[in-house]
Formats: sequence, structure tokens, C-alpha cells
Amino acid sequence: MTPLLERYRDVLPLSASTPIVTLGEGSTPLIRAERLSAKLGVDLWLKWEGANPTGSFKDRGMAVAVSKALEDGARGVVCASTGNTAASAAAYAARAGLDAVIVHATGAVALGKLGQVRAVGARLMEVDGTFEDAFAASLELAEQEGYTVVNSTNPHRLEGQKTAAFEIVEELGGPPDVLVLPYGGGGNTTAYARGFDEAGGGLPRIVPVEAKQRGDTVASAIRIREPVHRATVEDAVARSGGRVVPVGEDELADAWRTLAHEEGVFCEPASAAGLAGLAHGVAGLGERVVCVVTGHGLKDPAAVELLGT
Ligand code: F0G
Repeated sequence: MTPLLERYRDVLPLSASTPIVTLGEGSTPLIRAERLSAKLGVDLWLKWEGANPTGSFKDRGMAVAVSKALEDGARGVVCASTGNTAASAAAYAARAGLDAVIVHATGAVALGKLGQVRAVGARLMEVDGTFEDAFAASLELAEQEGYTVVNSTNPHRLEGQKTAAFEIVEELGGPPDVLVLPYGGGGNTTAYARGFDEAGGGLPRIVPVEAKQRGDTVASAIRIREPVHRATVEDAVARSGGRVVPVGEDELADAWRTLAHEEGVFCEPASAAGLAGLAHGVAGLGERVVCVVTGHGLKDPAAVELLGT
């Protein structure tokens, strides 16, 4: 299969001399959710981003960010993460032959993700505090070591992530009516809006779904108090006629179980946020909805015990 970065070379910040670091990211399945469509009265499609090489959508952006870091002569990369950016950065850095340092809040990262980071030889640094504290520490470290920050504040990350919107438009023949997706820092929402803008055909109503309990949600991937991309998320929501939907812990757990039971899609808890948001009347009867399912369930096997089946 053509690597993502070759497929979308024309719309990515790549030059002829950019070394392409790839693990086969992107081109993920868009699965029609037959049973849930019938149940909810909409035409529902799941963009299954757990099918990426490290099991999350982060790989799309990381392929671009690490390729660019290599081109720019970086010695290494650093990021703060709730786990998926970490797993992705670590893998792509290993692939590129770069050092990787991952900063995370103590006890805040699911077991599978820690395993992914350690397996490929990245260094883990714990911070006693929040994601925001970890992010501050990662900026400091980048400064000291001369490493490239590969959080979503690195513009190449969102450029890579926007390719998911292109894939959806190509596969459906146009944008859907509604896009529902989890909202942590808001980088992915920003990237999708940019992708739909650039693909032409207009924006779907964009519905980012956040945990009401942002700071201590069971959905550890989106345990972020202050979204760094809040302004661009609000702009995308306003321009598209969508809205931000906050959901409770029980709603997240229900949606997570429903995706698994009804459609056979085993994702991590944060990744079910989009489906949880759909219960809030954001789509009309028969409308076409794409729900972005962002990360694989194997990353967080403890959720099976914690949330029940
Ligand atoms: N879903 C999953 C599985 C995630 O890991 C994240 C973010 C999101 C949704 C939210 O995306 O932040 O762009 O709004 N994970 C980051 C990380 C914070 O460090 O892996 P967002």
C-alpha cells in the first residue's frame, strides 16, 4: 500500500529531500455500524483509528513530525502524554534512529501504553502532577537537550492528522453530515476541521465530546484539564454549526460497552466518547454520521475489569 505520506504528499509539508519515516500508518477502515445505525436512526460509520501501527490516530501526525525532525537534524524527540502520543513518538523515533523521552504524570498512563514505550527503548520520565505539569517539564527538557517537541503544538502533527478527513471524504464521496470525536487537548478536532476545509465540500457539523470530569475521568487518554487547542476547536465548532458535548463517566462506560457488544469494536474508554456524544441529539434522523474511534482497547486492558462487560 502507498505510505500515507506519499499518498498525501501534495498537501503535507514535505520536500523532495524529507526522509519518510513510516510504519504503515493511515488508510484505516471506515466501518458501517449496521446495528447501531438501525438502533439510533442514523447512518453511522466508525473511523477505526485503532488500526494504526501503534494503535491510535497519533501515528498519522507522528509520521510527519518525526520525518521532519529527522530532516531538520534533531537528535531526539520529547513529548508529554497521557499515553498514545507517547507510544507513537517512541515507535517512530526508534524507526528513525532518534532518542525519545516521554514525560507523563505519575499513575496516569494505561499499562499497555507504558509497555509500548518501554519495548522500543524510549526513556520515561514521571512528573508528580497533572498532564499540564508534564507538558511544562517536556518543554524545559526540549530546551536543555535540543530535542524536538512532538506534542500537537508541533504543527507537523496536525498536518499529518488531517489526512483522516481526506480519507473519509474519498470513501464516502463527500463529507458526512456530522463528525463526532473525543475532545482532549483538541488537536485532533483542529486537524479534522483543517482536513475537511482543504478537501472541499464543506465542513460536517463538528461535535467534539469531552469528559465532564476532565481532570479525573476514567478515560485516561483525555484526562486533560486545559485544552491547548480550545480556541481553534471553538472556531471549528462555530463555523460548522456543531457543538461541544460534555459527557459523564457512566455515559462513557456505556458507549464503550456498546461499541464492543453491538459492533465488535474494542476501543479504549476515551475512544468511545464520540458515540456517547451521539446520544445528545446532535444528529437528525437518517443523517450520515462519522464517529472517530481513536485508540485500541488492548492499550488499556484494565478497563475491562473497571468498567465491566
Ligand atoms: N482519543 C485518544 C485515544 C487519545 O489518546 C487522545 C489524546 C484523544 C482521543 C484526544 O485527542 O487531545 O487531540 O483532542 N491523547 C493525547 C496523548 C493527549 O497524550 O496521547 P485530542
